Amino acid sequence: MKATITIHPNDIIDKIDPRLYGSFIEHLGRAVYGGIYEPGHPTADDMGFRGDVLALVKQLGVPLVRYPGGNFVSGYCWEDGVGPRRARPRRLDLAWSSIEPNEIGIDEFQEWAKRADTEVMMAVNLGTRGVEAARDLLEYCNFPSGTKYSDQRRANGFEAPFGIKYWCLGNEMDGPWQIGHKTAEEYGRLAAETGKVMKWVDPSIELIACGSSHSGMPTFGDWERTVLRHTYDVVDYLSLHSYYGNRSGNTGEYLACCRDMGRFIETVVGICDEIKAERGAEKTMYLSFDEWNVWFHSNEQDKKQEKWTVAPPLLEDVYTFEDALAVGCLLITLLHHADRVKIACLAQLVNVIAPIMTETGGSAWVQSIFYPFLHASCYGRGLALRTAVDCPAYDAGQYGSTPYLEAAAVYDEAASELRIFAVNRSPDASITLDLAADGFAPLQLLEHLVLRCDDLNAVNTAAQPDRIKPELVCAADGAVLPPMSWNVLRFRCV
Ligand code: AHR
Repeated sequence: MKATITIHPNDIIDKIDPRLYGSFIEHLGRAVYGGIYEPGHPTADDMGFRGDVLALVKQLGVPLVRYPGGNFVSGYCWEDGVGPRRARPRRLDLAWSSIEPNEIGIDEFQEWAKRADTEVMMAVNLGTRGVEAARDLLEYCNFPSGTKYSDQRRANGFEAPFGIKYWCLGNEMDGPWQIGHKTAEEYGRLAAETGKVMKWVDPSIELIACGSSHSGMPTFGDWERTVLRHTYDVVDYLSLHSYYGNRSGNTGEYLACCRDMGRFIETVVGICDEIKAERGAEKTMYLSFDEWNVWFHSNEQDKKQEKWTVAPPLLEDVYTFEDALAVGCLLITLLHHADRVKIACLAQLVNVIAPIMTETGGSAWVQSIFYPFLHASCYGRGLALRTAVDCPAYDAGQYGSTPYLEAAAVYDEAASELRIFAVNRSPDASITLDLAADGFAPLQLLEHLVLRCDDLNAVNTAAQPDRIKPELVCAADGAVLPPMSWNVLRFRCV
């Protein structure tokens, strides 16, 4: 089959914010304990952080990592996680029916983040707590010295402030599953007051208010309107969350789930602009898609998990090759919305619905979804271009008629490179790509990276870590995208 992608160097969506390639570590399952932290592991460093995991995280080039939750944060007392370890309490984590040992807290996590070449995006507890705890935590983290909490940080061995810039005002506060779930009115008022006080402590921070937990929430839309009416002046971003999965076993439909993500973003943008107009505001509200991924494989298994243990193996989705294609399509969708989505977090990073897996005491390896994320993070920097795709379509069930080709174009002026990210969703036909790129200097295909596999259900495991991995195909053969494949085409503008 043939497809045409039409682009022009002046038809720019926006400069891609590097924070589009953020991720997330929650105190959940084996993300922290047995994931990033495992004293005694052969690769552990002086603080007990696993070196093999750090190396893989660095490879991904993740600019920020949201922490410490997630649902966990809505019951969290940050004070439990600082100071001498022997004095730290073990606590019930009601979000995940687990025991939290508090061996890792913000002191250690910000140190891990430095070692991983990334930044912490911190969340405050607006479930069981409020203005006071958020103010104190920010003072602990960012105030230089001479006050109760800043001096406590220094006494704990951290002389320099952490300088955490991004702060989430709670997590999924619209969800009945959330500890301290709130109505939009209750949350909007609390978020506005908490944000106001936090910016008094440190005016340089940026704040993220909770939007809906997903677009299927019964309160979706009204929630955003109400929350924004309370918080518009004080917050900088509104959050979106969404998880996908192939529950019906229909691959064609599943691989079109990015259409839902696109609609979700566009609807939230519309609501933000409605409130902007209503208020006659100058300021534009940006979006933080701070939880997105595939999550469904582990759902049944997790129901059987024994409660009240430390670091149980929860949400350990083993990702198939098919999931990697879905994640590729979701990344392309984020690029299409680079004008409004400035932060996004692949949820999560290690062991919990994650691109990186570990065996406690054993090896670390990468899952199928690692690769599209790696490629987008490496090559999806520069300007996102509007991309018109002309290609035959198929019936994608609930998502309707959908082109076989999903594609985004990025122009990296500094490197003089044009990059095309593309998923061929056809089960049996290759796509021969024609690039209509008026306005560019002549383009020379430098490299064509492909992720393909003969089995949609293939997975990487500790025993077979390279079952799914990308390959370089001969650029001289032109841009031919194999059936069911993720592709990165790098063109030099000569
Ligand atoms: O990422 C797993 C969970 O999904 C998070 O804790 C929560 O915010 C969302 O529901």
